[in-house]
This record gives sequence, C-alpha cells and structure tokens, in this order.
Amino acid sequence: MQESVAGRSGFGFHPGWLDRQAQEDLVAWLHGAVATAPFYTPTMPRTGKPFSVRMTNLGDLGWVSDRAGYRYQSTHPETGRGWPRIPASLMEVWRALAGYPDAPEACLVNHYASGARMGLHQDADEQEQTAPVVSISLGDTALFRLGGTSRRDPTRSFRLSSGDIVVLGGTARMAFHGVDRIYPGTSTVLDGWLPEGGRINLTLRRVTRTR
Ligand code: SIN
Ligand code: MN
Repeated sequence: MQESVAGRSGFGFHPGWLDRQAQEDLVAWLHGAVATAPFYTPTMPRTGKPFSVRMTNLGDLGWVSDRAGYRYQSTHPETGRGWPRIPASLMEVWRALAGYPDAPEACLVNHYASGARMGLHQDADEQEQTAPVVSISLGDTALFRLGGTSRRDPTRSFRLSSGDIVVLGGTARMAFHGVDRIYPGTSTVLDGWLPEGGRINLTLRRVTRTR
C-alpha cells in the first residue's frame, strides 16, 4: 500500500513504527494495567450476544458495549473502578501521528484470541470526529479490512503485524473497518504476558470536543 496515496485520504499506514523494544515495554505496561482493569467480554446492544474479542481500556474514558448500547464511561463495567492511565509512550505515538492538538482520552485495548474477529463497523461514538483514531497492533498478525464511508463501498484487505500503526483520519475517519482473522503463532511478543497468545489492538481516541 502506498502511504502517500493513503495519506491524502486521511488514512495512514506505518508498518513497524514500534520496534521490538518499544513493543515489549508496552506489553509490560499493559500486563500491569490489566491487573487493575481486567479484560472482560462485552456484549452486543439489544441481543446481548458476546463479542469474540475481549476488551479493557486505559484513559479518562473507556468504550464499552452491553445490552444498553455503545458508550464511553469513566469506570470499568465489572470492577466499577476508574481505568488505568494512558502511558507516556502511547501519548508520544499520538503526538507523532495524530496531527491533533489535544490529548487522547480513551485507549481501547482489544484482545483477539486465535478465533476472534471483528465485523465491519465505523467508529462513531465519539463526539469529536475531527480527531483521528490511531490504532496500534501487538502480537499475532491480523487480516484487516478497510472500506469506505458507506457499508456498500468496496473494501481492501491487508495484514497488520506487531508494531504496525494505522491512522484513520480525515475522510477515512468514518471508514468502515474490521478484522477478518488472526494468524496464530506469528509473534512472540505477548509470550510473557498472555500464554494463549493472540493479538492486542490499542485504539487511541479523542472523545469530547473542546474547541
Ligand atoms: C477496532 O476497530 O476497534 C479494532 C481494529 C483492530 O483490531 O485493528
Ligand atoms: Mn473500530
């Protein structure tokens, strides 16, 4: 994928942005954070069907889903405690790639076990949609699908490996996207934390509008 072409639409693909050491430092941080904010299984609005992806959050606000709907909230739905803070290294990624003056308020942490996937969707629960979504991949490679702003638009698929960063900004901010599959055993970076392996995806988001 041509980054320059992609960049014009507000889509950015930065393969290998985080080196192995940066990935390991992040994994160590996350390992500690999930001790206070454990992964839980969100459920779909209305139907209550469980997601195949487990989730937790960092930051002032966390994205949650249950029968009542999708929303951001300041506390973990199971422990009732506030989310751990977003580490400086992720704030640095945002400063480098977001092109947006205010700090992210939410970092959704997704864990995909080997059979997990995420259906095609838009990130539309944020009040501030001039800020991009910055998405960091750790662990096993994923097959990521990116479409346009209409569900019927054609999609293209590409692999996201550990350390890769995707930015959905500009006209790509509301692009449909999803994860079709995980390729088990393609990374060792989660080995010391999650014995079952899989993939971690972190999405940094600005939620509220300040200007
Ligand atoms: C998401 O859309 O929340 C996650 C995307 C990904 O896992 O790459
Ligand atoms: Mn999304």
